[in-house]
Amino acid sequence: MHDDTTRPKNGPSRDELLDHDYDGIQEYDNPLPRWWVMIFWASIVFAPIYILFYHFGPGLSEHQQYERSVQAFYERQAKALAALGEVTDETLLTVKANPAMLSRGGQIFRAKCSPCHGMFGEGNIGPNLTDDYWIHGAKPTDIYHTIFEGVPDKGMLTWKNQLPPARIMAVAAYVLTLHGTSPPNPKAPQGTLVEPAETPVAPGAETPRGETSPPRTGA
Ligand code: HEC
Repeated sequence: MHDDTTRPKNGPSRDELLDHDYDGIQEYDNPLPRWWVMIFWASIVFAPIYILFYHFGPGLSEHQQYERSVQAFYERQAKALAALGEVTDETLLTVKANPAMLSRGGQIFRAKCSPCHGMFGEGNIGPNLTDDYWIHGAKPTDIYHTIFEGVPDKGMLTWKNQLPPARIMAVAAYVLTLHGTSPPNPKAPQGTLVEPAETPVAPGAETPRGETSPPRTGA
């Protein structure tokens, strides 16, 4: 196995064995390929430029870039909210009429709220959100407020630190569309009956999206 005669003898003529031998391993004294040498020199030239730019110069680290984009995001959200004005029943109904916001709200609901309220709002640990019974009020602003502040002693999380206000508005609007739907396995009602006529959602709202129901404010 260690026999030198097994080495290829027909390689390029510059193959020249160096005269050392480690456990039977010998090596040729060939120059490195040109592409390799080029990359080697290029990385030597690149390294100090990189270090100067990112560690001492104006280059932003990934962390700083992330912070900046998050900052910019919240500034945009704040502007959009300021444009909407303070959160009122009307603003929430406007959000409810906006399909893009509603579909965002639906995503948030399925991701964050469904473990406790069920995939269709039918209730689980948390109350049924589709019936006419409400513990904390049925008005859009009541619902927004319950989500925003939570009911920590009763197991409803506080979302104001988890979700920016625009998302709480989106998910509150989505909850409004759940009202009046008939999901499978509904949880028994909790809270007090709010007559459908008094609730801001038209009783005809059948689809979870409820885009067809005309917004109606409390009587
Ligand atoms: C860890 C479980 C849990 C999660 C997650 C949760 N909730 Fe709740 N939620 C509850 C409980 C429990 C209550 C009932 C509080 C009470 O009895 O006062 C509740 C109450 C509510 C109410 C008031 C219902 C009423 O009858 O007045 C609304 C609206 C609501 N949640 C919406 C949401 C939304 C939207 C989300 C997602 C952003 C969410 N919840 C996530 C457990 C949860």
